[in-house]
Amino acid sequence: MLTIEQLNVALGGSRILRDVSLHLPAHRVFCLMGRNGVGKTTLLKSIMGLYAPRHGRILFDGRDLTHAAPETRANAGLGYVPQGRGIFPHLTVEENLRIGAIAQGRRIKETLERVFTLFPVLKDFLPRKGGMLSGGQQQQLAIGRALLTEPKLLILDEPTEGIQPNIIDQIGETIKLLRKDGITVLLVEQYLDFCKELADDFAILDRGSVVATGTIAELTDTVVKSHLTV
Ligand SMILES: Nc1ncnc2c1ncn2[C@@H]1O[C@H](COP(=O)(O)OP(=O)(O)O)[C@@H](O)[C@H]1O
Ligand SMILES: [Mg+2]
Repeated sequence: MLTIEQLNVALGGSRILRDVSLHLPAHRVFCLMGRNGVGKTTLLKSIMGLYAPRHGRILFDGRDLTHAAPETRANAGLGYVPQGRGIFPHLTVEENLRIGAIAQGRRIKETLERVFTLFPVLKDFLPRKGGMLSGGQQQQLAIGRALLTEPKLLILDEPTEGIQPNIIDQIGETIKLLRKDGITVLLVEQYLDFCKELADDFAILDRGSVVATGTIAELTDTVVKSHLTV
């Protein structure tokens, strides 16, 4: 589904990603882990076309998207929920949901019903300002908005960050349902148990390089100790 080959990205003159190669099979959940500042968000933004790589390729469903504009990638089926959620605090829930779809020029009626089934709270709070929602509700709104673009691959950057445990469980359940629906998920996550419960495959980044990758069963304590604990 998504193949990244030898990706090198520099920001402000420093090399942030070094020869990153990854392969995400379709219909699975792939968890990307790593300590703070190792380049996880930079990799996701590069996949979305927000940063241009110096070298390397990004292939999605066999199509070379390395130099494609972000909107081309969104149209090809990449959905993105940024770290910190990126919702508009002064727009209502309804406006936040519509804006993602408008940008895509899509009709959203059926998908909106699906989003309300996953996150009933959004339907109850449609007229409320996004900024008035709790952290967990904002995360649900951000995921709902991304789903309105009908992604084949949904990319989530630390969805559990700053969110209370019962909502974390709910987001975990949502990810399982999305996988059942055939959506592939790329999840950046620091919360190890969340990854272990949800992921099929994993990779660990350290200082801009992939230092471990495999199926989630291969994420042993030794691997965790050498690459994830401080
Ligand atoms: N726009 C930018 N310009 C320069 N350096 C950046 C920029 N964004 C991030 N960085 C640096 O790149 C490194 C990786 O950041 P990031 O991808 O956000 O890490 P992570 O998501 O793994 O915490 C950090 O050292 C960060 O300071
Ligand atoms: Mg980050």
